[in-house]
Amino acid sequence: MHNDRHLVNIALIGFMGTGKTSVGRIVADQLHFEYVDTDELIQSQTGRSITDIFAKDGEPEFRALEQKTVEELVGRMKTVISTGGGLPVNPKNLASLKSHALVVSLWSSPEKIWERVRHQSHRPLLHDKNPQAKIRELLDAREPFYKQADVLLNTDLRSVREVAQQVVHQFRLEASHRR
Ligand code: S3P
Repeated sequence: MHNDRHLVNIALIGFMGTGKTSVGRIVADQLHFEYVDTDELIQSQTGRSITDIFAKDGEPEFRALEQKTVEELVGRMKTVISTGGGLPVNPKNLASLKSHALVVSLWSSPEKIWERVRHQSHRPLLHDKNPQAKIRELLDAREPFYKQADVLLNTDLRSVREVAQQVVHQFRLEASHRR
């Protein structure tokens, strides 16, 4: 299916609270890959928190930093890349990731997402009067982008370990097709 692509990395995309970070860390451990997170890269490169960038410079500046970070990932090998929830909305980001990574989308229902994020406060897009409605609205708008991944995994009924196992399995399957 992806024979013309040389997939040496794994990229996890999906909405906030779908488990990209927890799954990504386990997958990296199992494959002996490095683990990176685009939000963490942005924060370490700018020395600022995501909340601060959103508050002082606005979302467009954050999206520009996000795109730059994605471009800098080209050339990496054996890396699991966890991405910010809005990153695949920019088609350049998805195209760039697809050039070197198996792109796996973690999917959850708005209810599960709310359960997972409700006690966290570090996500500026959910600092809203009605965060549950905001989740539904963003999820609806982003669904077509998340669905462009190579692999879609619903995480509602699976444990983090099971999801990680599926990701590892799909990556190995992909690698074996290329031999
Ligand atoms: C965002 C998700 C966040 C972070 C930023 C914007 C989004 O990442 O990039 O707050 O647009 O959905 P996580 O998905 O890791 O929470």
